[in-house]
Amino acid sequence: MRKRPEDLRSHRWFGVETMRSANHRSRLLQLGFGPQEFRGRPVIGVINTWSDLMHCHGHFRERAQDVKRGVWAAGGFPVEIPAMALPEVFQKPSTMLYRNFLAMETEEIARSLPLDGLVLMGGCDKTGPALIMGAISMGLPAIYVPAGPMLSGNWRGRKLGSGSDVWKYYSELRAGTITQGDWNEMEAGLSRSAGTCMTAGTASTMALAAEALGLTLPGAASIPAVDSAHPRMAAAAGARIVEMVWEDLTITRLLDQRSLDNAVAATMAFGGSTNAIPHLIAIARRAGIAMDLERFDAISARVPLIANLRPNGDRYLMEDFFYAGGSRAFLNVLAPHLALDATTVNGTLGAQLQGAEVFDADVIRALDNPLHPNGGVVVLRGSLAPDGAVIKQSAASAEKLSHTGPAVVFEDYNDLDARLDDPALDVTPDSVLVLKNAGPVGGPGFPEWGMLPIPKKLLAQGVRDMVRVSDARMSGTSYGTCVLHVAPEAALGGPLALVRDGDMIRLDVSARKLDLLVEEAELAARRAAWTPRKPVQARGWTGLYQAHVNQADNGCDMDFLERGTEAVEEPEIH
Ligand code: FES
Ligand code: MG
Repeated sequence: MRKRPEDLRSHRWFGVETMRSANHRSRLLQLGFGPQEFRGRPVIGVINTWSDLMHCHGHFRERAQDVKRGVWAAGGFPVEIPAMALPEVFQKPSTMLYRNFLAMETEEIARSLPLDGLVLMGGCDKTGPALIMGAISMGLPAIYVPAGPMLSGNWRGRKLGSGSDVWKYYSELRAGTITQGDWNEMEAGLSRSAGTCMTAGTASTMALAAEALGLTLPGAASIPAVDSAHPRMAAAAGARIVEMVWEDLTITRLLDQRSLDNAVAATMAFGGSTNAIPHLIAIARRAGIAMDLERFDAISARVPLIANLRPNGDRYLMEDFFYAGGSRAFLNVLAPHLALDATTVNGTLGAQLQGAEVFDADVIRALDNPLHPNGGVVVLRGSLAPDGAVIKQSAASAEKLSHTGPAVVFEDYNDLDARLDDPALDVTPDSVLVLKNAGPVGGPGFPEWGMLPIPKKLLAQGVRDMVRVSDARMSGTSYGTCVLHVAPEAALGGPLALVRDGDMIRLDVSARKLDLLVEEAELAARRAAWTPRKPVQARGWTGLYQAHVNQADNGCDMDFLERGTEAVEEPEIH
């Protein structure tokens, strides 16, 4: 049933006749708003993850104005509220450490302030999932405005992809095939406009996931940040959220098992980032919807990879994807694998996709002409990862997907940094590089260290890929035969903690297995002798995070933020 003005949540602040509400209204007048601008209107919180250090959201101050324009035009009252920006490249040790922080901030902003609906402005990797997680826990109507990808990179007429080409050319620099001058010149061509990484990295993946979840307007996920379609989409989202408030279309009513499965299918068919796994598991768990590694693996196995974008393919980027028809066309091709009756912010998913066309069938492939016959991600289990691990097979070397080799172990990132390029390091192309203490607790914050660099002496021999195993994540723009998210992690004494130099490790992706080939008696002795390391930092947020974060297979949310720990809103606002 359509809400009336007196049904609005904000009515309790501004609409009733009490001493407090008089004070509330007086403070809006203090801000320069007249009663005709706020009385009886839905108050829309425009949650903006902008900052001067947020490289990917440089257009968000201006874009927030576009959102507000849409809110005003539809009869709402927009209020812009800043939330912590998580700049993927700048923030140490990892933005993942702060995803739950931003989720909590979003929830608490929405809960404590007089808001009726939310426009979530995010994009750079962790911001989107964080905003969505927080919005779910509060449960108001919410619409997501993704930042959009930046323009394609360009260096001497060659297309450059965010992340992917940094790793690639840095290996060439270390191998001596390009000069320092070349490298420095590339810097200017890598990030050419506002917007998120334009490869099929985490930002593109999670924007697409949000669209498949039904949380964006149709086609929003792939509009380049600086295209004039982007402010038009932002204004339309501002207008739509006002209606959603009247319709009481809350985010919790909108999301269900169909939406989550659609999002997983979309990310897998996109060849998306492995980061989508902990994010979508965390989102599902916040909403009380079933999602685990097995479900991911099952969906991944049934959908083909149809987006020909780096790092899976070698030619195209998000700008090409947009011109090829964009996210709507992509989802329309994928339609046989989607639940089209799932609800979105604007009707059913099927209605959102109607009429969407592909304009370049090499970029967005047909289901019968995929880049890879199944989705990018495979879930592994075995004696080295009893609670699971993942590998992005679409970005790995086919000949390494079945491999047994001796471990070369690094105790942590500093150890890796100190010894990797040592000419005396006992390593061959068949070795398995192992990094410990890079998980949610150990990192801390589950950093993107999982694409361990190839040792310099092997690079010089022409080696460009090796099997690597860690409890870390890797960037969605990374590639190589990297086994990630090993759980339980080393810092908690998982089997990874027990691996020593020379132990044989067997990876068999077709059998979905990752095993440590060491006798159980020997492992038991090592386990008995194992002692945990001192936490890296015990105070503040990091300390709280280390004490409460779940393991990778559970989405790395905080135990106290999961569903079942809902806050109760006070019926009376004093
Ligand atoms: Fe922001 Fe990649 S650094 S999306
Ligand atoms: Mg990234």
